Formats: sequence, structure tokens, C-alpha cells
Amino acid sequence: MIKVIAINGSPRKDGNTSILIRHILKELENEGIRTGTIHLGGKKIHGCTSCMKCFENRDRKCVIDDDLVNTCIEKMSTADGIILGSPVYFLDVTSEMKALIDRAGFVSFANGLLFKNKLGNATVAVRRAGASRTADSMLHFFLANEMIVHGLPVIGIGRDIGDVEKDEEGLARAKNLGQTMAQLLNHLDQHPLPALKPEQADERMTKKKK
Ligand SMILES: Cc1cc2nc3c(=O)[nH]c(=O)nc-3n(C[C@H](O)[C@H](O)[C@H](O)COP(=O)(O)O)c2cc1C
Repeated sequence: MIKVIAINGSPRKDGNTSILIRHILKELENEGIRTGTIHLGGKKIHGCTSCMKCFENRDRKCVIDDDLVNTCIEKMSTADGIILGSPVYFLDVTSEMKALIDRAGFVSFANGLLFKNKLGNATVAVRRAGASRTADSMLHFFLANEMIVHGLPVIGIGRDIGDVEKDEEGLARAKNLGQTMAQLLNHLDQHPLPALKPEQADERMTKKKK
């Protein structure tokens, strides 16, 4: 079965980011795709400590194992599509989302790109400024991991919980992104990309300086 996992970086579990994610996932579910959401925001999530243990262990995990990041990595690596969502906090993603990007990103690099060729896209809830930059922070995670980004991210405008429900254009974009993602996932399910050779772990970060 085709699976999509969404990760919500907002501490407001039922806030605007969550609403945008739900609108995207509804379209995927309508097309028979299984979805799940992990609410990461508001939880104690460590930042990357630069210990480089992921490059030593290469066990598809971060050594920091007392928060939700390893669960996210596991769910992301078994999904066919990934949606990252964050409100704009000081013109960028929330600290929980940034911690996920850094740690999941390095674990992926250490294990030969765990998310390669999966579909990825992002959604952002914004009051006024910083939406593009916030979306870019998440899109760059997909690009660095050699994932497929199918078009622009979804931006919803609002401040208080529920405000994005009034942003007709934002909701239409969410619907469109969900439909396009479903179409592509169903197509790739019927016509899978050629099997990829197992990747060598990315050595760029651990190469000794001459
Ligand atoms: C700490 C903090 C920083 C914020 N920074 C910005 C900002 O730079 N630009 C902006 O437009 N909105 C900013 N906001 C507003 C939120 O992005 C906005 O309320 C959003 O809808 C919240 O989404 P949520 O309900 O999913 O948490 C900020 C909110 C908080 C709490």
C-alpha cells in the first residue's frame, strides 16, 4: 500500500499548519493512499550535537534515542511520500522542525540517502512574512536527499488557530498539491523507477582533511 507521512512542526496540534496538512492528506486518502501524521512541535526535541556517531554506526538511527526523531526517520524511510509542515517562526521553521531536518538529514547521508526518490513537499502557516524562506528550509531537505519535489509548497495565511480555513487560495493549493501527489504516487506504483544500486554512505562529512 502507498503511504504518506506528514510531520507537523507546530506546537499547536490543531493549529493552522495542522489544518493545511489535513487538507492535503484528505486528497491522498480519497485516492486510496494511507496517511499518518506525527506532531513534533511542542515536544522536547534535541538539536544535532555533531557527534558524527551516525556515520560510525550507520544503523539508520540517531544516537539520541529519547525523543521522536528516530520514529520520524523510521516512518519517513518506509513511506513513499513525505510532507513537512511548519508555521513561520521568526522568518523560518520552528526549532523542532530544524532539529528534525539536521538529524534526519545526517542519518540519511550516513546511510546512503534513506529518502532518495521519494516524493516530498512542504506546507507553511504564516501570519505575514517569511513563508517562502520557511518553505525553502524544508524543500532543501528534500533536494539534499535527492527526493522528488512536485511543484510549489502550500502556503496558508493566518494567525489564530483556524484562520487558514478562511484562506481560500491556500486551501485550494492544499487540495491541488494532495491531488497531484496522489496522481504521481499512483503512477509510480504502477511504473516504479528502475531499482537503484545500494548507495555508498555519503563520506563528504567524515573525510579527513589532508
Ligand atoms: C515565536 C513566533 C514567531 C513567529 N514569527 C512569525 C514571523 O516571522 N512571520 C509571520 O508571518 N508570522 C510569525 N508568527 C505567527 C505564526 O506563523 C502564525 O500564527 C501561524 O499561523 C501559526 O501556525 P500554527 O497555528 O500551525 O502554529 C510567529 C509566531 C510565533 C509564536
